[in-house]
Amino acid sequence: MNTETLLIHAARQTATAAHSVSPPLVRTSTTVFASYDAYKQAQGGLVFDGPRYGRSGTSTTFELQRAMARIANTEACIATGSGLAAITAVLAAHAGPGHHILVGAGVYGPTRVFCDDVLIPSGTDVEYFAHDVDVSPLLRENTSLVFVETPASLTMEMWDVPAICAAAHDRGVPVACDATWGTPVFFDAHALGIDISIHAATKFINGHSDLLLGLATGTLDALAGVRAYCDRNGTHAAPDTCWLTLRGLRTLAVRMERHQRSAFAVARWLQSQSGVQRVLFPALETDPGYKLWQSQFSGAAGPFTVELAPCSEEAFTHFIDSLSLFGLGTSWGGFESLVMPAVPHHLRALATPANTPRLVRFHIGLESPQDLCDDLAAALAAVRGDGGTGGQLQEAGIG
Ligand SMILES: Cc1ncc(COP(=O)(O)O)c(C=O)c1O
Repeated sequence: MNTETLLIHAARQTATAAHSVSPPLVRTSTTVFASYDAYKQAQGGLVFDGPRYGRSGTSTTFELQRAMARIANTEACIATGSGLAAITAVLAAHAGPGHHILVGAGVYGPTRVFCDDVLIPSGTDVEYFAHDVDVSPLLRENTSLVFVETPASLTMEMWDVPAICAAAHDRGVPVACDATWGTPVFFDAHALGIDISIHAATKFINGHSDLLLGLATGTLDALAGVRAYCDRNGTHAAPDTCWLTLRGLRTLAVRMERHQRSAFAVARWLQSQSGVQRVLFPALETDPGYKLWQSQFSGAAGPFTVELAPCSEEAFTHFIDSLSLFGLGTSWGGFESLVMPAVPHHLRALATPANTPRLVRFHIGLESPQDLCDDLAAALAAVRGDGGTGGQLQEAGIG
């Protein structure tokens, strides 16, 4: 089955039993068993997606986990309370004194904070590496995980995922990837060699900006340590957010298509505007990551980052405050367009107003792209101090 079909038909086992199209929302703290034998089997934890105790999930959780595993073309999935909880569970499950973990330098800021403030002080050797270096010489005897995010948060660099996986697997090292940007609709993580694919379902997968949820997919073997970590730490998701995410899943493919079309149109339009220095979006032919994007992704819904021409702090503030359709917020993947100033976490310590490029991150929502460009044109004109408009949006083809 194609992904579009799976998104509609997966996760409906319990719906069939309830004579409904949508799986029932099952909330419970306590699981009760029909027999002592069933109890012993469940508590032994042998069934990955089986009821044990409310914390590890109810039938609603298992429906979402099974659906996500099918969509990602793998065996299993674990739902966690947030995207960050999935990331930290994967990292922590591979960490410990004497372990060495390689982490892509441009990962989501809080991922780095977890490495710097939790893993390193407790004895894990975390080494950051850049997107354009060969990972092979960095792998050591004690390397327990390679962790990347592609494209990198804010700076949007692409990682050569198949090359990293080949080098790591050669040494028996698993690779985990924060694949939130591509979603399984545009990024077939496991087919590219990734062992554990992580999604902040908070973003595109749920798509309605009304919950936080993380999903980690992989084989039963690859996820065994992560599952044990989640069990020990109570990291699992609540059934309510799983139910809402199942609802979001049904429309994921059509939303991604629309986000993609609008993101391309707005990104290309921005490239032609005075006051815009650079658009960092690997799906544009002009982007240094274009070739890697083309070979690893089947689409791009954004978000993307824009470097404005050098301007004063006052003008930059004026640009952001002049936008009326773009909410000022640190998220993306929902129905609504968003903007935020983008100083990559790992460059923050070095940043001064004088040396920091004027970067803004945009998420292009489901509004009319013409209206969004009109809004951006007015904000750019306000910064330039002219009354000019950006003109009609040319519907752009997809690269
Ligand atoms: C790339 C990426 N990964 C993970 C997360 C964390 O997701 P959550 O907010 O659900 O913890 C975010 C949130 O912004 C993100 O941008």
